[in-house]
Amino acid sequence: MANESLSKAKEAKNDEFYTQYHDIEKEISAYLEYNPDVFRGKTVLLPCDDPEWSNFTKYFAQNFENFGLKKLISTSYAPESKRYKFGYVPTLFETEAPHFDADKSKTHGKIFILDHDVTGDGKINVEDLQWQYLEGDGDFRSQEICNLRDQADFIITNPPFSLFRQFLAWAMDVDKKFLIVGNKNAVTYKEVFPLIKDNKLWSGRTEWAGGMWFETKYEDVDRVINGVKMKNVPSIWFTNIDHGRRHQPLALMTMSDNLKFSKHKELKGKDSYYHYDNYDAIEVPYTDAIPCDYEGTMGVPISFLDKYCPEQFVIIGMAKRGAGDPALKSKVYTKEDYPNYSDLNATPVIITDGVPKNTYPRILIRKKQ
Ligand SMILES: C[S@@+](CC[C@H](N)C(=O)[O-])C[C@H]1O[C@@H](n2cnc3c(N)ncnc32)[C@H](O)[C@@H]1O
Repeated sequence: MANESLSKAKEAKNDEFYTQYHDIEKEISAYLEYNPDVFRGKTVLLPCDDPEWSNFTKYFAQNFENFGLKKLISTSYAPESKRYKFGYVPTLFETEAPHFDADKSKTHGKIFILDHDVTGDGKINVEDLQWQYLEGDGDFRSQEICNLRDQADFIITNPPFSLFRQFLAWAMDVDKKFLIVGNKNAVTYKEVFPLIKDNKLWSGRTEWAGGMWFETKYEDVDRVINGVKMKNVPSIWFTNIDHGRRHQPLALMTMSDNLKFSKHKELKGKDSYYHYDNYDAIEVPYTDAIPCDYEGTMGVPISFLDKYCPEQFVIIGMAKRGAGDPALKSKVYTKEDYPNYSDLNATPVIITDGVPKNTYPRILIRKKQ
């Protein structure tokens, strides 16, 4: 019970990580590089934000004119509705506003809108953001925020980690472009992987390695940089906005060159790649060891998705219990044959020295014809 409430508290804290400005800038630059007019004349909605804290609103407001935006809308969630409450104190920005309301400050979300020059300085920027309290608490599932979603062209945010599945479904429910942060493991969720397989969702531009550093208000931190508390999370960007990296094929060696020259001891000097015992596919333990001339099915690490180019490979499925398609299996282990049959059925299996051994979960791919 104590463990359960600890993990709930941890999960609730994870909902309150804030994205760094340069991470947003780096990611968005990739879409602009691919299409400089990607945001021109468009409405961008930043839900699940906290504009007084968060960098999404700051970044888009500062670049409003550069990007040629039509409208920027960001919304925040009421402090009293948050799962993790941390002694809320409204900011000076809010308390000094003529329409500050001490009660609504706790129970209502806020909406920030930027669409014209309010200050009269001839520019549209962060100074022209206008805000008011929402009717409700700013829950992205509320009708009020759904209405904002429906008028937006782009939905961009780092949503609460505990509601990632729901948020993705909410964004995919409507035909909109979106860019959201989520845990790397989410690629294997049964609600997420099929979208990746069908090229309706893909990894953003930022590399997966090293995870992402978020600002946090809590004490259990991984680093403090210039007084800012930071936490490292294995997060990645998920999107349906096109970027150039996903159209760059991987530079790969042939199978025989991999077996001769690979930097990986599992392959160098070997006669062949392992063929799985329970899938009709070969085991490729590293993305950079994918043989460019192999025509059959290959099992590759999940991190392959960071480098996936749909013009180069086709994704066939996931070889992992739960997320995978059982029809892809060529063999199912039974308790009559193996006492550890259940473990063996969880992922692809290779036979080494006559003993079946699980590999990590794999994505099954093929070279595009
Ligand atoms: C991971 S934080 C990210 C904040 C901000 N988007 C950023 O990246 O800096 C998620 C935010 O969503 C808020 N939130 C939690 N549940 C929500 C819900 N159901 N609807 C809207 N926002 C929610 C959290 O309170 C938190 O402020």
